[in-house]
Amino acid sequence: MRSVRGRVVVVTGASSGIGRETAERFVRAGATVIGCARDEDRLRAAADEVGMSVRRCDVTVAQDRDDLVASVLAEHGRIDVLVNNAGIGWTGLVEDMSFEDVEALYATNVVAVVDLTRRVLPGMLARGDGDVVVVSSGAAFISLPPLTVYCSTKYALDGFVEGLRREVLGRGVRIHSVNPGPVRTEWLARSQGHAPAEGASSQRLSPGVPAAWVAAAIERSASRGWSRTASVPRVVGLTRLLALQPLRTIVDLGVGATAGRLAAGGKRLAQAKAAAA
Ligand SMILES: NC(=O)c1ccc[n+]([C@@H]2O[C@H](COP(=O)([O-])OP(=O)(O)OC[C@H]3O[C@@H](n4cnc5c(N)ncnc54)[C@H](OP(=O)(O)O)[C@@H]3O)[C@@H](O)[C@H]2O)c1
Repeated sequence: MRSVRGRVVVVTGASSGIGRETAERFVRAGATVIGCARDEDRLRAAADEVGMSVRRCDVTVAQDRDDLVASVLAEHGRIDVLVNNAGIGWTGLVEDMSFEDVEALYATNVVAVVDLTRRVLPGMLARGDGDVVVVSSGAAFISLPPLTVYCSTKYALDGFVEGLRREVLGRGVRIHSVNPGPVRTEWLARSQGHAPAEGASSQRLSPGVPAAWVAAAIERSASRGWSRTASVPRVVGLTRLLALQPLRTIVDLGVGATAGRLAAGGKRLAQAKAAAA
């Protein structure tokens, strides 16, 4: 294990949930942390509590990504660790999605991750050292409604991680994926169309493991000398077995048996979202 002390770490989506916990953990370990998000008020509040420096950045905007990387390089000269954490969900049926919903999911969860990585990678390769951590999901192991399109973005991320890991083998750069199951954050409330920042924690936070568990896995990944995939908790990794043909058939039969309830639930989600908009 190597310490992250003194390393320059960029964390996207650092104002809440997993990103905020990760930033806090890296700061405590002695790293220089630069966090980003869109909502400047929440970002500044997190910065004061956590002790990181921050930049406002919407990762779906190419100019913002450019400015983020350029300003960190101008101030610190390098980026040692990139934590691609910012991500959004969308619960409901594909037939109820707008084109804008699809575009936002892919722009945030996939395009931004690939492009930010592409921007920091040459510096890491030139120095022969660096870690890129991608916050993927257990949703990359099994695709289930009503999260079909969200799952597909995380499948895309895992494919990116696997290929890039092979591309940089032996060149001093490590590519990690962290795949959590349900985590106690605002992610689900946001996925259902709520703006949860102001709500009571019972409405804001979904059931799941503490975000601190995921942050610990992210720090462990950046501290190892090799690329790794970490499921949080570990048992989530077992869902990969559901891709095996006999088990896949059982999942299909189970989902098929609840098709009516699924369709009705999807419609209720769409109506609730329309009411919250
Ligand atoms: N919670 C779960 O159950 C769970 C499970 C598996 C994987 N994950 C993944 O974990 C990651 C973090 O989610 P979380 O659970 O911590 O959710 P969260 O509490 O909703 O935090 C999301 C963070 O990302 C930021 N963000 C969203 N869109 C952004 C954009 N376009 N540009 C910059 N920042 C943006 C948000 O701030 P602003 O809105 O202010 O920009 C916030 O800081 C996501 O990739 C998610 O898919 C979550």
